[in-house]
Amino acid sequence: MASKCSDKTLIRLYEDKELAYMYAIYRPPPYPTAVRETIIKYLEKNCNAKNKEGKFEKMLDVGCGSGTLSTQTFASFFESILGIDISEAKIKEAKRLNKCRNVAFECIEGYEFPVENNSVDLITCASSIHFLDLKLFEKECERILKPGGCCAVYVINWGNITGFRVGGTDWRLKMVLLYLIVEDFYISVKAHPNNFAAIRRNQQIYDQIQNSSKIKLQEIVSGREMTLCQLKNVFRTLGDYVIFMKQEKPAKDPLEIFDQNIRQALKLGNDLSDEKIFLKSEEVFPIFVFTKQVTSRPDRVL
Ligand SMILES: C[S@@+](CC[C@H](N)C(=O)[O-])C[C@H]1O[C@@H](n2cnc3c(N)ncnc32)[C@H](O)[C@@H]1O
Repeated sequence: MASKCSDKTLIRLYEDKELAYMYAIYRPPPYPTAVRETIIKYLEKNCNAKNKEGKFEKMLDVGCGSGTLSTQTFASFFESILGIDISEAKIKEAKRLNKCRNVAFECIEGYEFPVENNSVDLITCASSIHFLDLKLFEKECERILKPGGCCAVYVINWGNITGFRVGGTDWRLKMVLLYLIVEDFYISVKAHPNNFAAIRRNQQIYDQIQNSSKIKLQEIVSGREMTLCQLKNVFRTLGDYVIFMKQEKPAKDPLEIFDQNIRQALKLGNDLSDEKIFLKSEEVFPIFVFTKQVTSRPDRVL
């Protein structure tokens, strides 16, 4: 049922097989529980009814990637979940890592998603909507959502480093505007322009969504501890970085500059290994939803 469509509407940054493997290892842990709780609460309150076992019927995760950060974490709320992605490499990984019997994955090539009309309670887009053609996507959401079903969009926003320690157990307070260092990194790897919309909290995308029911839900703020090495590994899995390194073979790795920028901000020298530098960071997860109206207006143009 997956339809081929012109590659003009597709942004392919995550096709690399090695990257698909590293993504599942190096990306952050799953999105915080509070993200899905917020979405499920919205769905329960405003949208559709659950079945006798207290589950919703169907969820579709668009741009599911390896399926571990988001898709699988919704498994207990739905009878069935389908994760779709344009990257074959990612879907192969998602199938390999799948632990849930009610979750399936499929590689798709465009904007005819392999689900029936009016059949989906929830569509999720985790750090992926910025790669989509919004008009085609909204139109397909309108086709496949049940009346009263909704699409939830969320993304990670690299907020601030709030403290650090070098070995030992004593944390030192220090505020570093991590999102600015991340933005510089995106510029240096010549990241696709749409990525900037994502790191700026999806505001531009929210503005472009035509569905008049769109609404921002409470932003989730979550703290995390990781080493500088682990933080750099997250950015090793940015598709644009992998492509930049392969195509441009730069004299200086942009991740080295990223490393330097963080050390400078923390006033740390180069002699310390990045595995010995522990960071406390505060991440923000903005969420917005839009809902298919119970009585669709036939004159609505998307
Ligand atoms: C940054 S990853 C996010 C993956 C996952 N949702 C997560 O949060 O870890 C973005 C994903 O969107 C996929 N993608 C990009 N364009 C797409 C499209 N038109 N349809 C479906 N997936 C797409 C990419 O292949 C990639 O796996």
